[in-house]
Amino acid sequence: MINYVDIIYGLAWGDEGKGKIANILAHEYDYVCRWNGGPNAGHTVYIGGKKYKTHIIPSGIFAGKKCIIGPGCVINIDKMREELRVLSGAGFDINLVKVSPNAHIITDEHIRYDKLNLTHLGTTGQGIAPCYADKMLRCGKRAKEVLESNWLWDGKLSGKILCEGAQSVWLDIDHGDYPFVTSSTTMPYGACSLGFSPKAIGRIIGVGKIYDTKSGTDPLFPTSLWEDEDLSRLIQYGEEYGSTTGRKRLVNWLNLDKMIQAICLSGCTEVIINKCDVLEKLGKFKLTYQNQLIEFNNMHAMKEFIADTISCGMNGNDLANNDVYEVTFSASKEVLI
Ligand code: IMP
Ligand code: MG
Repeated sequence: MINYVDIIYGLAWGDEGKGKIANILAHEYDYVCRWNGGPNAGHTVYIGGKKYKTHIIPSGIFAGKKCIIGPGCVINIDKMREELRVLSGAGFDINLVKVSPNAHIITDEHIRYDKLNLTHLGTTGQGIAPCYADKMLRCGKRAKEVLESNWLWDGKLSGKILCEGAQSVWLDIDHGDYPFVTSSTTMPYGACSLGFSPKAIGRIIGVGKIYDTKSGTDPLFPTSLWEDEDLSRLIQYGEEYGSTTGRKRLVNWLNLDKMIQAICLSGCTEVIINKCDVLEKLGKFKLTYQNQLIEFNNMHAMKEFIADTISCGMNGNDLANNDVYEVTFSASKEVLI
């Protein structure tokens, strides 16, 4: 029997630090599940001062929890095996990892097509879109056709479930900045593709970031209208380089309107705003709201403005339903929950 399901997902363009939050919360659950995406994702976690990078394996592996890669995911078998090899070598129990028989397999042809034809969209070149395209054309290859049976998930979930999203609201195939999106459902409702009722969902934790970044090209990304040399220092301080591609990310001050829109659209029960330490280090506290650049004297004032605006400032938003949101703030390598 499922006790309840909680969901972590990103409120921006990815790279908010969802992996870190999931990793901290994972201890409280029986299962940690991925419902979307594939090796395009990159989660960096620090455990005991050591840095680990995962792309497809759920962060539950670090907490010794059962890890499920759901039917909505796409898998590069070689890359998954390599990730498992490294994790196993570091002492983590890789037998906890199970893959849905219906997850789709990325082929060399998918990768080739992606690298040849989709670079103008700024993809990660992992064959994601071609793999999902074949899934929709119903000519794709599924995990059950290629994986040994001991890796296959029996479809059961029980106890306390944590679902961790990959990519984020503005990369969602239906709601994101199309066509500069990924090819899966990054919205929290996508987690239901794992096979549970929406009624089982409890906490829906939206993870945002105190400044905006986008990995890969995107003419729709709200790049700064205000030329600001601080932003280039922000790339350095925040280590804003793609964890899958190594590319330098686009950066901008937080667009609070966009964050509120993401919150309303996706319907979270709480918000965590991450990477506050990066602005502290920079010593500049700016955001844009209602087309104005607002500068604060210190972090405290900025946080207060963000929390108040998110909690109370959504009156005019048809999607808000008068919801009140709990907002917490965290730094890159620690979290306050
Ligand atoms: P694709 O998912 O490789 O097709 O890439 C499509 C878009 O999503 C590109 O702009 C990528 O940079 C972006 N993207 C995909 N996965 C991630 C992620 O995990 N973090 C941040 N951006 C991502
Ligand atoms: Mg990431």
